[in-house]
Formats: sequence, C-alpha cells, structure tokens
Amino acid sequence: MRQMSRGESPYDAIARLYDPWSRSVTEDVGFYVEEAVASGGPVVELGVGTGRIACPVALAGVSVIGVDSSAAMLEVCAERAAAAGVADLLDLRLGDLRDPPVRERVPLVTCPFRAYLHMRGDDERRHALRRAHELLVPGGRLVFDVFTPGADDIAETDGRWLEREPGIFERADWDTSARTLTLSVRDDRQASTMVLAWLDPEEWHALLVETGFEVVACYGWFDRRPYAGGEDSVWIARRPT
Ligand SMILES: C[S@@+](CC[C@H](N)C(=O)[O-])C[C@H]1O[C@@H](n2cnc3c(N)ncnc32)[C@H](O)[C@@H]1O
Repeated sequence: MRQMSRGESPYDAIARLYDPWSRSVTEDVGFYVEEAVASGGPVVELGVGTGRIACPVALAGVSVIGVDSSAAMLEVCAERAAAAGVADLLDLRLGDLRDPPVRERVPLVTCPFRAYLHMRGDDERRHALRRAHELLVPGGRLVFDVFTPGADDIAETDGRWLEREPGIFERADWDTSARTLTLSVRDDRQASTMVLAWLDPEEWHALLVETGFEVVACYGWFDRRPYAGGEDSVWIARRPT
C-alpha cells in the first residue's frame, strides 16, 4: 500500500468508505443533537468527519464549526451538508484537534464517536483537553464518548477480518499491554489502518479534572443511563464559571 505523506490522515484513503462502513452507527445522533439544541450553539465539533453528527445538528437549526485533520473527510462532509441544505450552518476547517483553528468561544464542544482515542499518551490527551477547555465560554460543556474494550470483545475479534457491512471488512489487532487497537478497514477499492489508544474511565475522569473541567456526568450509553462498567462511556464535562 502507498505510504502516507506528511499532513495526510489515515481517514483520507477511506473518506468515501466511512459512511457505508459506519452505516449502522446511529445510536449517538439524537444524543448529540439534544446537547447541541440545549446549548443554543454554535457548536465546535472536533473530528467532524463526514458530518454524520454535524448535519443532523445543523438540520436542528444549530450552527457547527467542524474541525478535522482529513481534507477528504471534510470534502464528503461539505457535499453532505449541501445535499441536506445546511451548508450555511456548517463552517468546516482543516486542522488538528490538538490545536484547533478556532478563535470563537462557544457553549458546547463535542468530540463524538471516539475521536479522542486518536490521541496517543497522556501528554497529548491533556493538551487536547486543555484546547477544548479554551474554546468554551465559562459554564460551557465538553461532550464526548470513548470506549474501553472488554476481554470478550478482544478475544472474539482479535486478528480476524470480519465483514462489518456487505463488502466492507474490518480487522482489529489489540495490544492489551500498550492498550492500543490497530484498526484496519477495506473494501475492494479502498483500505486504511489507524491506531486507537484506550484508557479506563477513571483515567479519563482524572484527566478531565486535571485539565480544569468539572465532570457533570459519565453515562454508559447515549440513553443517559449511568456508567456501570461497560465498554462505552459518554462524558459531559463543564468549564467552571
Ligand atoms: C471516528 S471518526 C468520527 C467522525 C464524526 N465525528 C462521526 O461521529 O462520525 C474520527 C474523526 O476524527 C478525525 N481526526 C482524527 N485525529 C484527528 C486530529 N488529530 N485532529 C483532527 N481530526 C482528527 C478523523 O479524520 C475522523 O474524521
């Protein structure tokens, strides 16, 4: 496979595959739309991708500043926004969530669908969380979700190509010492591999407190049930007034 050049993202090669690949992921959309509407907007979405969340948020009347390091994902997002008639409500910016090109201060910053797992190491995570904190007005919220894999999931999927959607294959290579997941995806035309790094919820909690947030809630799912030890955790953190 072709080497990535500097500035390229592993998502560039699969930008046209991302929506069909994540077609079944719908459970989080209503949750993020609710948060956006309650905030009044505008919203900064870090790792906006193809606008899977941002377009429904815009359709609910809330404007979104979407930051992503993949130019190809942003291109798909712009097309989707135009097709949905919400291009005017989406301000898409190519950039890194560790140093987002955003001067505005907003009541809500989101980082949906595990995009913070692209941060490697606590220094990078702290840096990213501090940047998110800076984007918020006092009292504003950071809302994001992450996962912590269970032993069963690891045992079931490790090192195997699984057909996630018709013609779309996904492979998870887990390193439980380094706590990284090397995730590969391919169809007959496109392929990419990316690394995700996970933490325990207690560690996310500690990082949020350390970077100046008050933790408002940690849910175990997008229906807002309290976290009770599952794989997913959904966080609401607040910049104190
Ligand atoms: C799993 S996708 C989530 C996309 C979208 N938020 C969603 O919910 O469908 C993660 C996104 O984060 C972006 N991303 C990864 N690392 C990034 C970084 N350091 N800075 C900005 N975007 C990043 C990727 O390009 C990708 O679009």
